[in-house]
Amino acid sequence: MKTAKLTLDDWAVELPVTVGSEGEVGIGIQKLRAQTGAITLDSGYGNTGSCESEITFIDGEKGILRYRGYSIEDLAQNATFLEVAYLLVFGKLPSEDQLSGFNSELTKHSLLHEDMKKFFEGYPPNAPPMSVLSTIVASLSAYYAPGENEAELQLNIVRLLAKLKTVAAFSYKKSIGQPYIYPRNDLGYCADFLHMMFAVPSEDYTVSPLVAKTLDMLLILHADHEQNCSTSTVRMVGSSDANLFASISAGISALSGPLHGGANTAVINMLEKIQADGGNVRKYVELAQDKTSDFRLMGFGHRVYKNFDPRARVIKDLTHSVLEELGVDDPLLDIALKLERIALEEDYFVDRKLYPNVDFYSGILYRAMGIPTNMFTVMFSIGRLPGWIAQWMEMKNDPGKRIYRPRQIYTGPTEQKWVSIDDR
Ligand code: CMC
Repeated sequence: MKTAKLTLDDWAVELPVTVGSEGEVGIGIQKLRAQTGAITLDSGYGNTGSCESEITFIDGEKGILRYRGYSIEDLAQNATFLEVAYLLVFGKLPSEDQLSGFNSELTKHSLLHEDMKKFFEGYPPNAPPMSVLSTIVASLSAYYAPGENEAELQLNIVRLLAKLKTVAAFSYKKSIGQPYIYPRNDLGYCADFLHMMFAVPSEDYTVSPLVAKTLDMLLILHADHEQNCSTSTVRMVGSSDANLFASISAGISALSGPLHGGANTAVINMLEKIQADGGNVRKYVELAQDKTSDFRLMGFGHRVYKNFDPRARVIKDLTHSVLEELGVDDPLLDIALKLERIALEEDYFVDRKLYPNVDFYSGILYRAMGIPTNMFTVMFSIGRLPGWIAQWMEMKNDPGKRIYRPRQIYTGPTEQKWVSIDDR
């Protein structure tokens, strides 16, 4: 077996090396502390592998993203979101029968328990949809068995995949004061979601096939991204044997931050700000480089992709064709394109390998489809759900599973004597 040697002061330790199927190398430090008393320090876990995984492969330098070995470009072009969800959760592409069985299971479970409607009523109208989503998902564990045996667990997986879009659409309807539209069994996954979002009882509403297809593709692009912040959260919470609903709810909360899933909302806010300020793109490109300012170009940069984000390539082409076909003329897209062009001419962005990521374009597409800005991260959650579930299952089935429990280097005061309140 290949090993790595580490020397420090008088220690010399040999550490085991694991090589992945794509040649990635990981140095095992599990015994380091026992052997030397030292730990590794890696704030933000930028260089720490938390698990071995068979689900998603990313090569950030080459711009490669594959789910179970299939390239994101191939999947976006040829698969449906349900096929991708099946692939991620069950490990292989479904046969025709398996796919239709999966589809009918999801259809059967898409209703919410009627009592749960009261939860939506308790929120103020301007409640952030991501808060509603995470709390309602956590509440599902009050309605269904925790999934302690295989049959229960499989059912909970189906329930979650089926119900998340209903929860998302209900939270939107609640926020605009319209009656909830129930799921329809005759519609596909994305068409059903769009129908629940945009139909009203008094009118016929037909979902645009182009919009449904575009949404399907967007969800595929978001379906998994290996050990990112929300996925690691799902694994971490699940590692304590917390149930699937609790773990996914935590993942939704992690995704809500603007540096993660909230980025596409932040992109639109930024583009609107630039537009309101007269469209002076150069001013904002310069501001993003100014180290005395906090301003960053939202939708630029990625922890992993250091040349291009393959999802951004797929989505950029899609954005242009969909906007053209829908006849949407969005001035924010012109600002976005100008911003991209100017930023990529600047040494600051080139030197730091800061390129547009998937969220740079997804916000513009969601806008064109009529999805309100405060729902963008909810859309991301619907897309990411199969990935979270697959990663949670993999963690749970790992024979070497241990509760996640990182160490730290303490930098606070050394021992202090108690001081009574009168003497402080
Ligand atoms: N605009 C301006 N400067 C930037 C940006 C940006 N968007 N992103 C990074 N930098 C600079 C940063 O200031 C630092 O400069 P220096 O070396 O001079 O200190 C350098 O580039 C490296 O940045 P970092 O913060 O160390 O990079 P990171 O890997 O920790 O952060 C990131 C990655 C995505 C959080 C960051 O690039 C960022 O904040 N981008 C904007 C938010 C965004 O678009 N997030 C969505 C990510 S994609 C969705 C997903 O997969 O979750």
